[in-house]
Amino acid sequence: MKKKMMIIFGTRPEAIKMAPIIKAIEKDARFESCIVVTAQHREMLDQVLKTFAIKADYDLNIMTPNQTLATITSRSIALLDDVFDQEKPDMVLVHGDTTTTFAAALTAFYHQVPVGHVEAGLRTYDKYSPFPEEMNRQMTDALADLYFAPTSLSRDNLLKAHHDPAHIYVTGNSVIDALAYTVTTDFSHDALTESDTKKILITMHRRENLGQNMVQVFQAMNQILDKHQDIELIFPMHKNPKIRELVQRYLVPSDRLHLIEPLDVFAFHNLAKRCYLILTDSGGIQEEAPSLGVPVFVLREATERPEGVAAGTLKVVGTEQAALVQAVDALLTDPVAYEKMAKAKNPYGDGKTSDRIVSIIAQYFGLSNTVLPEFDDEIDKKRKGTQHEKKSVD
Ligand code: UD1
Ligand code: UDP
Repeated sequence: MKKKMMIIFGTRPEAIKMAPIIKAIEKDARFESCIVVTAQHREMLDQVLKTFAIKADYDLNIMTPNQTLATITSRSIALLDDVFDQEKPDMVLVHGDTTTTFAAALTAFYHQVPVGHVEAGLRTYDKYSPFPEEMNRQMTDALADLYFAPTSLSRDNLLKAHHDPAHIYVTGNSVIDALAYTVTTDFSHDALTESDTKKILITMHRRENLGQNMVQVFQAMNQILDKHQDIELIFPMHKNPKIRELVQRYLVPSDRLHLIEPLDVFAFHNLAKRCYLILTDSGGIQEEAPSLGVPVFVLREATERPEGVAAGTLKVVGTEQAALVQAVDALLTDPVAYEKMAKAKNPYGDGKTSDRIVSIIAQYFGLSNTVLPEFDDEIDKKRKGTQHEKKSVD
């Protein structure tokens, strides 16, 4: 009998990173899939479903304009409860650290269905940053049965928390698999004019940045545009109305400032690849950028993705106005430093994450004796004493 895999997600980044895994499950005759979206995001989720031609079996359509963490959680659990009763999955896959992720893992636990956590083990160890994602991750890991850690650092975080080593696998991040579907040589966009200006791409949406942090970044953007006439800024704005209010109030209009709607992921990856620099507080973009050859300034005080900092692609610059302007100035005038950031090797994956995850699930159910080799981010080779034994891997 085929094993029924229920894949639950709700926001844009989860959808992008789950898409290649869904494709890998759907082409494997040992499994059947059941796709459930909470639609914690509506338009931004639908863009991804369309790009990857994914059809949800259940669409819980929970999004409301001013949703709170409590309403997302409670509505998701109440509606998922019925879906579990109806579908009786053999395993649930959740991704990352959103409120949908935690609500789905908790519902699976209530139904005693095993949980596979994709992108497990990321940590800042700061309860309120990112908020509420850090605790969503930790609580989801507490409920999970199989851990798909993207890197050896995330694996180590799981080991430190005493999760079962036999159920932790370093798989790489499936966002790298997604790039294989999207990146193309043939791409154009209105914001990429013929002119030889340098394009800086910006995204910002984190709850802990709403307010003063965002205002500082926007004022830095005004200053950068003023100071550097050869720069254009492209800002695909998140749909959150609280962000758009701040954009409206604090960004000075300019013909070199392109405020645009969220791009579908095909357009975003291709546009990002053609930009000079990315300023972002996004998690996923920090992982993609090394493969796109674009340096990233992280608009946060800390990142749970230190691998990219160590590799040289990411620089954590924070949100303070003067510091941000200075960091951009410095990169613009230092081609050697720029090349170093742009050419760093991607530590987040090799494009084989989805196949690895499917092979691990097959072994978990006794459908296979072996799993594909883990992703080697070469960190273990550089350190001593961090190897751990796993009973079941060949
Ligand atoms: C959520 C995740 C965050 C993730 C981010 C990706 C939580 C707590 N946060 O944050 O981890 O990084 O998604 O973008 O799960 N909205 C729309 N249309 C959309 C999407 C959002 O109108 O397609 C608006 C709604 O008014 C909604 C607001 O954006 O109330 C905020 O959405 P929400 O999912 O609550 O939080 P995000 O900041 O998007
Ligand atoms: N992204 C997109 N369109 C946009 C901006 C971002 O498709 O206009 C993609 C981006 O390539 C990445 C993901 O959305 O894969 C990141 O999502 P987001 O920043 O919303 O969430 P996070 O990764 O911080 O959780």
